[in-house]
Amino acid sequence: MSEQTDRAPRPAPDPLTPVLSQTWDAERSWTLQAYLDHGGYAGLRAALTQEPGDVVATVKASGLRGRGGAGFPTGMKWGFLPPPDGGPRYLVVNADESEPGTCKDIPLMMASPQALVEGVAITSYAIGCTHAFIYVRGEVLHVYRRLLRAVEEAYEAGFLGTDVLGSGFDLDVTVHAGAGAYICGEETALLDSLEGLRGQPRLKPPFPAVAGLYARPTVVNNVESIASVPSIVAHGADWFTSMGTERSAGFGLFSLSGHVTRPGQYEAPLGTTLRELLDLAGGVRGGRSLKFWTPGGSSTPLFTAEHLDTPLDYESVAKAGSMLGTRALQIFDETVCVVRAVSRWTDFYAHESCGKCTPCREGTFWMKQVLHRIEAGQGTQGDLDLLLDTCDNILGRAFCALGDGATSPVTSSIQLFRDEYEAHIAQGACPFDPSASALFDHTPRRPAAPALTAGVH
Ligand SMILES: Cc1cc2nc3c(=O)[nH]c(=O)nc-3n(C[C@H](O)[C@H](O)[C@H](O)COP(=O)(O)O)c2cc1C
Ligand code: SF4
Repeated sequence: MSEQTDRAPRPAPDPLTPVLSQTWDAERSWTLQAYLDHGGYAGLRAALTQEPGDVVATVKASGLRGRGGAGFPTGMKWGFLPPPDGGPRYLVVNADESEPGTCKDIPLMMASPQALVEGVAITSYAIGCTHAFIYVRGEVLHVYRRLLRAVEEAYEAGFLGTDVLGSGFDLDVTVHAGAGAYICGEETALLDSLEGLRGQPRLKPPFPAVAGLYARPTVVNNVESIASVPSIVAHGADWFTSMGTERSAGFGLFSLSGHVTRPGQYEAPLGTTLRELLDLAGGVRGGRSLKFWTPGGSSTPLFTAEHLDTPLDYESVAKAGSMLGTRALQIFDETVCVVRAVSRWTDFYAHESCGKCTPCREGTFWMKQVLHRIEAGQGTQGDLDLLLDTCDNILGRAFCALGDGATSPVTSSIQLFRDEYEAHIAQGACPFDPSASALFDHTPRRPAAPALTAGVH
């Protein structure tokens, strides 16, 4: 027997890096006690012994990039705040999560809200903020309640309030429940909403770092970005950069949903691939094959099975023609009608368009009408050009990224599945059986609305 075969096979390196999700299965993981039992608040204790500028420098050195979609470097964003002028400056946490497919911040806040509260305390100390806000969407009442209790517990234990842990640093935290609109996740619309105004994006510049909440310097960061800060401060920038890739450092929550055997949150280094994640998640349901998927939520151009080995980091996904976004990996097998899926997403964008600018307000409405009639088998060949032309008139011309995002599924699906659109038009009907793609028994809720005929809006 050769030496080779005598040796026990080496276990494959664990592709998961549970940090944020490390304690999610602990007994009553959401309580302060459970968080402390697992080493919680070590980051805040370490931060309070340092100069605020050193904390900012550590986060800069870690290469942490915003986990809310755009991937902007977090430490650099903090560094954009002007020097203190004696007036207030704010931290606002964006907990409005509502992109179709994005479902990481809500589980994080439910299972480990103290990680966010600790991150808020460290970030506020670093940027000189004494009043921070967490803006959570109002529909998720259970999350709102959990956050309120977490903040209350943190006050009681001296992690928030006056003279945090005897350091002389004061911090108040307000948890604010929004009324529930996708546009209120856009950072400037969020600030307007927080100020009590209708949530619509502001003209930039000025950027929030200069004139944000109440026209004061403000940092707006995503829940996962802020919750990642305590571990970076506790373990150091090198620990963080030892995971992920050179320009996309660290770990992130990858949310697998749809036609996957074990959907859920998979925390892994950036640069992991869908193939690796699908292996962990038991593959596509029922042994079916992968038809298309979104790397970063519905606003990111579709990928197909060709992209199974694309490293899921900002650079590689962009190079392959999409965006990493919020790592919302929605999996669709071969039973799915791409026209139907894109039509549903477009319904969402048309509904959520805030109406401030014409290209998005009108364009999403038009696209919705055209997609409905194609899906109903009443489209014309000219409709595909009309769709692409509408996208052309939205992309780069809309006031905020909602409009741009609404075009991604439309243009990418026509590019990848033009024949499927044409089949709807040629056959005068959808060639798919919707009940085959449903994850549960398909019961149509209401009769289909009469589709508009071509050329009529
Ligand atoms: C329409 C729209 C919705 C958005 N929704 C969210 C959201 O729910 N949560 C979030 O963190 N960022 C969202 N963003 C991105 C924010 O504008 C902003 O980039 C982010 O909160 C910055 O945090 P980060 O740097 O930590 O990623 C949205 C952007 C747009 C255009
Ligand atoms: S792009 Fe859409 S959501 Fe954004 S400002 Fe214009 S109308 Fe509003």
